[in-house]
Amino acid sequence: MTRTTLSLALGLLLTPCAAATARAAEAPKTLVPRASCVSKDCHADFSKKKHLHGPVAEKECKECHSWKDDLHKFALVRKGTALCTECHDDILVKKDGAKTKKGATLHEPITEDCVTCHDPHASNEKGFLTMPLLELCDTCHDKTLARARGKDKTVLSNHAVMLEGKACMTCHSPHTSKVPYLLTQKPKALCLSCHDKPQQAGSREVANVKEQLTQKKHVHGPVADEDCTACHVGHASEQVTLLARAYPPKFYAPFDPKAYALCFECHEADLGTQAKTTKATEFRNGEHNLHFLHVNKPTKGRTCRACHAAHASDLPSQIQPAVPFGTGGWAIPIRFTKTATGGSCQSGCHEPKAYDRKTPVD
Ligand code: HEC
Ligand code: HEC
Ligand code: HEC
Ligand code: HEC
Ligand code: HEC
Ligand code: HEC
Ligand code: HEC
Ligand code: HEC
Ligand code: HEC
Repeated sequence: MTRTTLSLALGLLLTPCAAATARAAEAPKTLVPRASCVSKDCHADFSKKKHLHGPVAEKECKECHSWKDDLHKFALVRKGTALCTECHDDILVKKDGAKTKKGATLHEPITEDCVTCHDPHASNEKGFLTMPLLELCDTCHDKTLARARGKDKTVLSNHAVMLEGKACMTCHSPHTSKVPYLLTQKPKALCLSCHDKPQQAGSREVANVKEQLTQKKHVHGPVADEDCTACHVGHASEQVTLLARAYPPKFYAPFDPKAYALCFECHEADLGTQAKTTKATEFRNGEHNLHFLHVNKPTKGRTCRACHAAHASDLPSQIQPAVPFGTGGWAIPIRFTKTATGGSCQSGCHEPKAYDRKTPVD
């Protein structure tokens, strides 16, 4: 802000303000010298609001309005966003303007007019918003809000934080940001600002993800990188667990590459479609593809989650330490070990089993 200290030379103010009473809300026809335009008779509604804008509180109407004699017509002293950026010069409004921080994205409506979202005078809302935050965003992003409010029946999982606390402002800046999608910080830091502890989703506890990333030996490639949004959306999803693409939610599922779109965005679907291979996967006994064997079944194919942890694991290849057994919440240790050319596991699913790519195990 360049002009935080507003002129308090109120003595100079002989402003031509309204003589109208609160009852007769008509603009005065003659020049009425007044120390202020806001009194119990004139524009009294401004001071009744919870939050008064700086220059209005200082009764400095002339910071934004100019007037001629007795006409009681008040033009704005500057046009569009310039009216406001004169004082709020830290708010960027031009994409290629000298003031734009390199690589910053602008929220489209801020290039037009600030009063689309802000009341220039006073408001009961924080930040002088023209209406409550969620209603404001809803005027232009109604689809986003309808999904967050559960009005879209195709939505399977929803991020409750969208409507709670600071709501949209938890993750977004209203004006500009260097991070895509106007995010307040890079996705990983943003997500982990809350997921560095367990969270409650109704009666269910949502795992502490940061702990997984820092305590486990092997962290999945994209999770180790900056990117939670490689697999998750920020808002609401047609998939479980805010996933960005399809991923079977249960231990068993009929095989269809489309049902694993989440994983096959980055990994070759061949690992689940080729019964025999020397290339598609390391999980094979000779040429016999053990991914195919477990996953590719018309009804009870084991899903990736049966063996792999999505984020991190202490075992190599992100193998889960244990598999769930039955419906009683039991888990049976897998005891997976790797060799140079294969591996072995011992779980409740079957007798100890081993595979070897070079010298197939019988
Ligand atoms: C920060 C700039 C700014 C200041 C300071 C300001 N105004 Fe305004 N005013 C505006 C803008 C912008 C509009 C047009 C609003 C719109 O288009 O939504 C306006 C409109 C008005 C209107 C007509 C519409 C309405 O909202 O009732 C009145 C009356 C008014 N101002 C009175 C005042 C008075 C009295 C003061 C001093 C106490 C004042 N204004 C101070 C920016 C300002
Ligand atoms: C003459 C200088 C001046 C102009 C012009 C001006 N402002 Fe302000 N504005 C201030 C001052 C001083 C404050 C800080 C005091 C306060 O919070 O009320 C402020 C505060 C604000 C805040 C609240 C900040 C917060 O921390 O919550 C918003 C929002 C705002 N202005 C928007 C606008 C908009 C929109 C316009 C144009 C219509 C505008 N301002 C024009 C001086 C100005
Ligand atoms: C799309 C709606 C929208 C538009 C357009 C917009 N703002 Fe804001 N602005 C917001 C919201 C939302 C907040 C945060 C309010 C809160 O929760 O405190 C905010 C906060 C502010 C604040 C206080 C905090 C901060 O970020 O510095 C100022 C000052 C401000 N706006 C000025 C402006 C100015 C100047 C313009 C025009 C160049 C403008 N705004 C355009 C929505 C908007
Ligand atoms: C006056 C209309 C309007 C209002 C109000 C508005 N937006 Fe936007 N917003 C847009 C437009 C237009 C775009 C750009 C096109 C699009 O992505 O839909 C946009 C884009 C966005 C984007 C994506 C930016 C990007 O870089 O892809 C986010 C995030 C966003 N708005 C958040 C909000 C939030 C949060 C609010 C409430 C504080 C809000 N918007 C209020 C019109 C608005
Ligand atoms: C938990 C963080 C978070 C919250 C809270 C949040 N968003 Fe977002 N938003 C994101 C992320 C992350 C993206 C990037 C696209 C994606 O991966 O889903 C995004 C993208 C967007 C976009 C552009 C893409 C699209 O979906 O149209 C808009 C608009 C948007 N958000 C508006 C909102 C509004 C409005 C709210 C409040 C109701 C809100 N967001 C609350 C994280 C959040
Ligand atoms: C302000 C805190 C906060 C932020 C920031 C946040 N979350 Fe959440 N998240 C929660 C809370 C609280 C829950 C549990 C309630 C719920 O489902 O919304 C949750 C739930 C989840 C769930 C489980 C949803 C389900 O249905 O099982 C996932 C996945 C998730 N968040 C991912 C993310 C990602 C990815 C980001 C970053 C884009 C993120 N979160 C940012 C607080 C946050
Ligand atoms: C490779 C894809 C992928 C990436 C990248 C990813 N996740 Fe996940 N995440 C998943 C899958 C799949 C699940 C569901 C796991 C399950 O149901 O066993 C999940 C579940 C979650 C859950 C819910 C945990 C619970 O107990 O219900 C949260 C929270 C979460 N992820 C946050 C994050 C955060 C934060 C990041 C970034 C640090 C991230 N995820 C990166 C795939 C991913
Ligand atoms: C955004 C891209 C991306 C997505 C989506 C993704 N992965 Fe990965 N995955 C990687 C990268 C990168 C590596 C690390 C490759 C390396 O180190 O050789 C990796 C490694 C792995 C490994 C370990 C390989 C090894 O032997 O150490 C497994 C297992 C794995 N992913 C399974 C999955 C599963 C299951 C899914 C779906 C839930 C999935 N991935 C989704 C990018 C992705
Ligand atoms: C029965 C357990 C099991 C299931 C089910 C399973 N995997 Fe694996 N996967 C493994 C084992 C064991 C390895 C380690 C192979 C090695 O390096 O010796 C592995 C390795 C991988 C790798 C590393 C590259 C490779 O193929 O060797 C990826 C990627 C992978 N799995 C993805 C998936 C995906 C995607 C799914 C679901 C469609 C899935 N896995 C289902 C056990 C399984």
